[in-house]
Amino acid sequence: MNDTKDRPVGLDNGLTNYGDLDFARYLRRSFARSMGLSTTLLERPIVGIAMTPSGFNNCHRTMPELVEAVSRGVLAAGALPMPFPTISLGEVFLNPTSMVYRNLMSMDTEEMIVAQPMDAVVLIGGCDKTVPAQLMGAASANRPAIQLVTGPMMTGRHRGQRLGACTDCRGYWSKYRAGTVDLAEIDLVEGRLSVTAGTCAVMGTASTMACIAETLGMSLPGTAAIPAVHADRLVAAEESGRAAVALIHRPIRPDQVITPHSVENAFRVLMAIGGSTNAIVHLTAIAGRLGIRVSNARLNQLSDETPVLVDLKPVGDGYMEDFHAAGGMGALLRELRPLLHLDTIDITGCTLAERLDEPLEWVDRLVIRPFDDPVSKVGGLVALSGSLAPDGAIFKRAAATPALFESEGRAVVFDGLADLAKRIDDPDLDVRADDFLVLQNIGPQAAGMPEAGYLPIPKKLAQAGVKDMVRISDGRMSGTAFGSIVLHVAPEAAIGGPLAAVRNGDRIRLSIAEKRIDLLVDAAEIARRLATIEPLPVPPRGYKALYRKTVLQAGGGCDFDFLTSDGSLRKDDAA
Ligand code: FES
Repeated sequence: MNDTKDRPVGLDNGLTNYGDLDFARYLRRSFARSMGLSTTLLERPIVGIAMTPSGFNNCHRTMPELVEAVSRGVLAAGALPMPFPTISLGEVFLNPTSMVYRNLMSMDTEEMIVAQPMDAVVLIGGCDKTVPAQLMGAASANRPAIQLVTGPMMTGRHRGQRLGACTDCRGYWSKYRAGTVDLAEIDLVEGRLSVTAGTCAVMGTASTMACIAETLGMSLPGTAAIPAVHADRLVAAEESGRAAVALIHRPIRPDQVITPHSVENAFRVLMAIGGSTNAIVHLTAIAGRLGIRVSNARLNQLSDETPVLVDLKPVGDGYMEDFHAAGGMGALLRELRPLLHLDTIDITGCTLAERLDEPLEWVDRLVIRPFDDPVSKVGGLVALSGSLAPDGAIFKRAAATPALFESEGRAVVFDGLADLAKRIDDPDLDVRADDFLVLQNIGPQAAGMPEAGYLPIPKKLAQAGVKDMVRISDGRMSGTAFGSIVLHVAPEAAIGGPLAAVRNGDRIRLSIAEKRIDLLVDAAEIARRLATIEPLPVPPRGYKALYRKTVLQAGGGCDFDFLTSDGSLRKDDAA
């Protein structure tokens, strides 16, 4: 069906308002012709290409060739490609943390899709926050849209060992802190961790979000894991361009693709890949743009029913290039088939059932395990609740030490990042291997929720051979990190969550079996301590003021309250 005949297409979309539509059309065409485009091309429908190149984003180094390949597909299918820039977020180049700017990028993406004359859009992102931001923006704009990811890096080599950013970055840094790797070697490793264009080489946040985008149906089937430098990545880009043109003639909008069923499928995949804890926040925010919510109880049910099937770092051994070669998302989704909603559609209009009915060429069972021989019988992530986290917390059991799952410890408290940096390696710090390290005031409002929840093991313990401890914070951790780490504690300390009441020497109990994290202090005493918390000051102006006033807790996806589906989700009810 071609439904373009009853509505404006191409340059006639959303004419600039001068009070004279014919003049607006004449002026727009005149200016478009100044770009050297023929009148024949200017008659065509338009596919916008949201591109995100940046000198500060190594993960998007291939953006020019991806834009060219998408454009090729659009032109070949009979439309006009119009690339346009939006903000780009390079994970390691932003201060205080890229998370502060994800919502800004989503607003940029949404508004530029809506304000400019395009009939469909291809969104090209890759690095951690860019794909969530683009999906959030696309969901809110609700115009036909396709997500294309830049793809993961290939691995490097060091003394015969494969290296991939950034799980191996952390592994080597821990060895350096423990004194088993010297400065000369860590300098060598620095140059061997990130050796090609693309996103981190393991199942970190970027790759997790790529898998989620494909599961939701917003990316073309089979494209999530293609390495950034593989020729097939360019083919995927060209095909995304063609598919965007098909969307113009047979519109499928994000709200038809991102549904309660596809969101549940995406949570299943998140569990099965042992994916990043960050993806819970991002998927919650994407779903929240369309009024879809998944409770922590349902999240735990999905996790308990869904085995980890993919053996990749940081949970297992392999890298994203192995996942692609092993069969990628197509193979994984077939294993998960009995658990999935099969009535969901992707942006081609194909149902998941139809996709999975297609025969599969080959699966490498070392990387993608059969359903009945999983890496782990239960999913990678669990939501916790309890007196320390009344509105929830997240624990990545797939990347943790099982011996610590049921444990109780003495709190060693740091009241912020400066305090942590000052004291964590102090030889006089009163800390033992069975203590719980607690970091306060790195939540969304206090600090933008940086990936500082992966507290380093105190140097004196690291040098004594301690590899893991229970660590608790209201922040996040990188999807490439590992350890027994309780994250996203809500409400955050800075707004009066019980995390702020923890004092050195308090006892805390963690139970993964019961999915609880409890501060073993009398409720009246917790309330007495919290009564002294001062409200956070609001920055006087600009984006930071908007951020502080409107950012939701992790349970609301850390979106801005006014950006959720109807703008009515307030900070107070976002748990
Ligand atoms: Fe961009 Fe890891 S730094 S994906």
